[in-house]
Amino acid sequence: MFKEHNYTLWGTYCSCGSECSILQNLHHPWSDTKFEVKVTCNCCKKELVINKDMATEFYDGKILSYFDGIYGDVLDLGCGEGFLSRTLLKESAVDKIYGLDIDEQCTDELKDIINHSNRFKFVKADISSLNEIFSTSSIDFLVSRDVFMFIEDTDKYFEDVTRIVRKEIRHMGWYQSFNDRMKNNLNPDQIVEEYSKRGWSTEIEYLDWYKSGYFIRASKNN
Ligand SMILES: C[S@@+](CC[C@H](N)C(=O)[O-])C[C@H]1O[C@@H](n2cnc3c(N)ncnc32)[C@H](O)[C@@H]1O
Repeated sequence: MFKEHNYTLWGTYCSCGSECSILQNLHHPWSDTKFEVKVTCNCCKKELVINKDMATEFYDGKILSYFDGIYGDVLDLGCGEGFLSRTLLKESAVDKIYGLDIDEQCTDELKDIINHSNRFKFVKADISSLNEIFSTSSIDFLVSRDVFMFIEDTDKYFEDVTRIVRKEIRHMGWYQSFNDRMKNNLNPDQIVEEYSKRGWSTEIEYLDWYKSGYFIRASKNN
């Protein structure tokens, strides 16, 4: 069963190649902070001081590792400034990325990839209109991070993505029962149930290193 928690990973790679990290609940690697952690490498016993920049790089890498091996036509749902899209664009097996977001400001934040990559297309739209934009089985992979909790009509979301996505959904997010930014109350276990009900094969990982985080992989057996 999913358990909410406040822990975030703070880490780096030692020059010997080992991962050195701790879980802590005070500072997020993406916040502006002078917080540093001194750790001893378990492998070579070297002492390392992990600052915010090192922690951010390590944390980003950890998130992005869940989005490996993606190919074909991809929908980055709630793409924001393109955190996932920018990495996926480096993969030659990715043919096209549709970055969808409701926020007009994304056009500005994404202008480098909008202007310089014909493999990226920004779609300014609400998630509730997915059905009007994408045809049946037109997307190989749907990726999303920290977006699901903003969806109001979750039934519509599950129906739409089941029609549009032909291979896999990689869905990362957080769930906090008393967070008033959340627009729906489905917890990660209930989200998995909703995918399964619609015929998806599902795996869930509760992320102890990502504040109240979870990762769901939903695949179609076709
Ligand atoms: C926390 S940000 C995550 C951005 C990006 N996925 C990332 O990993 O950095 C959530 C994004 O979802 C978008 N969003 C929220 N509700 C939406 C909706 N109903 N339709 C489309 N986009 C939405 C927001 O505009 C925002 O860019």
